[in-house]
Amino acid sequence: MKEQIQKIKDNAVEQISDADTLEVIEEIRVSYLGKKSAFNEILKGLKDLSPEEKKKIGPLANDTKKEIQHLIDDKKLALESVIDEKKEWIDVTAPGHKHAHGHLHPLSIVQRDIEDTFTSMGFEIADGPDIESESYNFDAINMPDDHPGRDMQDTFWISREDGRKKGTGTVMRTQTSGVQVRYMEKHKPPFRIIVPGRVFRNEATDASHEHTFHQFEALVVGEDVSVANFLYIAETFFSEFFGQEIKARLRPSYFPFVEPGFEFDISCTNCGGKGCSTCSRTGWIEVGGAGMVHQNVFEAAGYDRDVYQGFAWGFGLERLAMMKYKINDIRLFHSGDVRFTKQF
Ligand code: PHE
Repeated sequence: MKEQIQKIKDNAVEQISDADTLEVIEEIRVSYLGKKSAFNEILKGLKDLSPEEKKKIGPLANDTKKEIQHLIDDKKLALESVIDEKKEWIDVTAPGHKHAHGHLHPLSIVQRDIEDTFTSMGFEIADGPDIESESYNFDAINMPDDHPGRDMQDTFWISREDGRKKGTGTVMRTQTSGVQVRYMEKHKPPFRIIVPGRVFRNEATDASHEHTFHQFEALVVGEDVSVANFLYIAETFFSEFFGQEIKARLRPSYFPFVEPGFEFDISCTNCGGKGCSTCSRTGWIEVGGAGMVHQNVFEAAGYDRDVYQGFAWGFGLERLAMMKYKINDIRLFHSGDVRFTKQF
């Protein structure tokens, strides 16, 4: 019986030392110390032994059982600490987890770029309300009620009562030009401002038209401001915005609040002016309207006539964003489709 106990012990010692997981060590515990183990059978059989044998074998069996129990406990602790170490071990080569960050809408990115460039050229940023009086949006900038120029802009009227006094209606502003007189009433020249903002037109939408879009207006006024200043500022701005050299050209056009008025083109950002499908082979792309501020507008702001000169321009922000990022449908900006906005 002594030999049997010794044999069980030897086997147990060997198996315990080979065990490399907590599961294996548990199996060993069950098979050596559990109720159905060979060892338990021996302990159970003690009662059938003679008193002398009991004295010898009893303590031996119990000591051996304790010894095995100790070995198992020690091995368990050792294995647990290895597992802990494994947990703390950092694999610096493992690919990281990407966290989803919020980010700016492409129009916000473009607006910030524009504001950065213009403030670096000494411009201030001015602001006006989205819901504007008929007077600032139209009358003050030389577009009285019966002016044909009003037909150029389909308007969302908030209020326009019949038999009203002229110029007392309220509109969703159709252009940022309305901020011109608002600003000039409070500031004296010289100044240079840009007015980025949302505008609204009551028109059908398609790939290049939206009822809600953004413009930015530039207004530079002083005693000696010329079209040449405007061209220089425009070329500097567009070259910086598109990261390539841009040429600008003016074509005669008409806007009620400027005289002379121009249509403003820049050299094609796609082909550099050589001619391609983007620019209909002309080398030029139309980007907005511009002109020298009409003296009627200065007068509406309370300035004396023929004292100041200034230029104004108005561009569509979406248009610039579409050119810069090669976006082919203006409706995507307000679609709320994150597959679109996530790309920027
Ligand atoms: N406000 C004009 C428009 O929306 C653009 C413009 C601004 C033209 C300033 C000339 C000068 O069409």
